[in-house]
Amino acid sequence: MSFPTHRPRRLRQNAAMRRLVAETRIHPADLILPVFVREGITEPVALQSMPGVVQHTRDTLKAAAAEAAGLGVGGIMLFGIPETRDATGSASLDPDGVLNDGIRAVKEEVGDSMVVMSDLCLDEFTDHGHCGVLTEGGAVDNDATLEIYGRMGVAQAEAGADLVGPSGMMDGQVAVIRQDLDDAGHQDTGILAYAAKYSSAFYGPFREAVDSQLTGDRKTYQMDPANRREALLEVSLDLDEGADMVMVKPAMSYLDILRDVADASDVPVSAYQISGEYAMIEAAAANGWIDRDAAVMESVLSIRRAGADTVLTYWATELARWIKEGRL
Ligand code: PBG
Repeated sequence: MSFPTHRPRRLRQNAAMRRLVAETRIHPADLILPVFVREGITEPVALQSMPGVVQHTRDTLKAAAAEAAGLGVGGIMLFGIPETRDATGSASLDPDGVLNDGIRAVKEEVGDSMVVMSDLCLDEFTDHGHCGVLTEGGAVDNDATLEIYGRMGVAQAEAGADLVGPSGMMDGQVAVIRQDLDDAGHQDTGILAYAAKYSSAFYGPFREAVDSQLTGDRKTYQMDPANRREALLEVSLDLDEGADMVMVKPAMSYLDILRDVADASDVPVSAYQISGEYAMIEAAAANGWIDRDAAVMESVLSIRRAGADTVLTYWATELARWIKEGRL
C-alpha cells in the first residue's frame, strides 16, 4: 500500500511543472517605475541609501522613461525636486516648475505607450517639508492645503499627466482634485489615490531622494501602523470621492492591509514597494547575506499575491528586462 495518498510535491518536481501551476505571475504591464527629477543639475546624482537609483536630469529622465516603456513597463510615477522652496510650495503650481516640466518631457517621450503619473503632494516643494501648508501654530492645515492640491492637479493634467497621485493624506483631497480637474475640462485625467498610506519608518531613504526638509513626523495625517480597519474607511472615502485606482503604502509590512483592500475594492489596487523596502534588500545583498535577484523577485511576487494589481517598485525596469529574458 502506497502512503501518503496526497503528494503535493508532484507539482513541484521541476521548473516546468512549477511554472505551469504558479498562481501568480509578474508582467511588465503590472509594474510602475517611480522616478526622481531634480532641478538645476547637469548630471544624474546617485542616491547613497538607494544604490542604483538616481535623481535625474531632464534628459536622463526622458531616457529612463523611454527604456522602461521599451520594456513594456506599465507606468511611471514622477517626483520633482525643486531648487527653491517656500512655505506654500508654490513651485508645484509653476507650469515650468521641475515636476510639471518633467511630466511634459516624459509625455513627449513616451506618448501613450505607458501611463504617465505624477506625485501630487507638497512635501517636496515646501521649505518645512510637510505635505501641506501650516497654520500659524505650525499644524498642517487640511483645508487650506486642499485648495492648493486642486490647482496642482490641474497643473499636472495640463502638463500631460494621465493619472495624478495625491499622496498627502489630507481629508477630502480626492474630491477637491476631481472637482477642479472637471471644472478645468480634464474629465479624462484620472486619480490614483494613495488611499491607505501609513506613517512609516521605511520612508527613510526617500527623504534623501527628495532632499526632504522635514523635521518631526507626519503622524497627524498619515495612518497609524497599528490600524487595520481604518484602511477600509480611507479606501471607501476615496472611492466615494471619485478615485479611479487606490493604493496601499508601504507594501511589505502591510500585506494584510493590501489583502483587505483588494477584497473590498471594485477599482484596481496598487501597492508601493517603498524606498526602505528597496534599501533593505539592496543592503543585505551587498553584504552577501541574501541572493539579491531572488529576493527582488520574491518581494514583488508576494505583493502581487497579496492582492496588488499593480506594483510601484524601483526595480520595475530591471524586472521587466528579466521577464523579457525569460528569467521570470
Ligand atoms: C510624500 C511621499 C513619500 C513617499 C512617496 N510620496 C514620503 C513620505 O510620505 O514621507 C515615499 C516613497 C518611498 O519611500 O519610496 N509625497
